[in-house]
Amino acid sequence: MENVAGKVVVITGASSGLGAETARHLVKAGAKVALGARRKDRLDALVEELGDDQAAAFKVDVTKREEVDAFVKGAIEQFGQIDAMLHNAGVMPLAPLAENRHEEWDQCIDVNLKGVLYGVGAVLPHMNERQSGQNLFVSSVAGHVVNPAGAVYCATKFGVRAIAESLRKEVKGNKLRTTILSPGAVESELPQSVKSDRVKGFVNDLYENTAIPASSFARAVVFAISQPDDVDINEILFRPTAQEM
Ligand SMILES: NC(=O)c1ccc[n+]([C@@H]2O[C@H](COP(=O)([O-])OP(=O)(O)OC[C@H]3O[C@@H](n4cnc5c(N)ncnc54)[C@H](OP(=O)(O)O)[C@@H]3O)[C@@H](O)[C@H]2O)c1
Repeated sequence: MENVAGKVVVITGASSGLGAETARHLVKAGAKVALGARRKDRLDALVEELGDDQAAAFKVDVTKREEVDAFVKGAIEQFGQIDAMLHNAGVMPLAPLAENRHEEWDQCIDVNLKGVLYGVGAVLPHMNERQSGQNLFVSSVAGHVVNPAGAVYCATKFGVRAIAESLRKEVKGNKLRTTILSPGAVESELPQSVKSDRVKGFVNDLYENTAIPASSFARAVVFAISQPDDVDINEILFRPTAQEM
């Protein structure tokens, strides 16, 4: 794949779902991947599948800034450079505000927003110095449309788009590229983060009836990275054809 082969891509949230599938597609296209998440056993299994010359696993909790710094540093030590970073780790604890799920609010904001900021903060000095690189952010249809029970999750996904848009304008001069991926329902473990009994059933039905394979997301990432350096794909918003909302 033109402009993907040989690139080094760092992926947060690579232990399942969209992140893991994207790693597979990128390696198939000739890239090397640094995989980060808390479930190291999952990452090790993925490295075994992809080959340890093409992939490396790093245990990282994205809510801990020093761990994100160490992840990015480790990826540079392992592969010599970073050409792109997919800020993908996320949780979706949908629930009505009246349920007052404070711990879930904190976790959602810490992972989906602060985790993304820590990733940008860690990788930006390296990309700015090289005057080359691409940051890819994972927002959502929920970063465009708000539905009941989505207050906090949607706030983080609208926020991810705001972070990406600002970054895009800030780093133009350094020739960096900035991409937002905004998927609808895609098969992954994400529905498991819904704990509210009032929402679980609806979300499980939505995913069971409409979700499309994670390869849909992975192909979009490979497409955005594969563009020539003077083409900056800013956002890809997509849904399952069967998804109404
Ligand atoms: N699937 C969809 O329908 C959909 C739609 C729109 C947007 N998205 C977004 O896509 C992204 C990926 O989610 P997914 O659908 O692939 O769900 P998933 O299968 O549940 O994957 C989530 C990933 O995030 C990681 N993660 C969660 N908390 C973390 C933390 N504190 N530190 C490090 N990693 C953490 C998980 O790894 P560990 O648990 O091992 O740490 C896992 O690898 C998320 O940002 C999600 O909001 C998904």
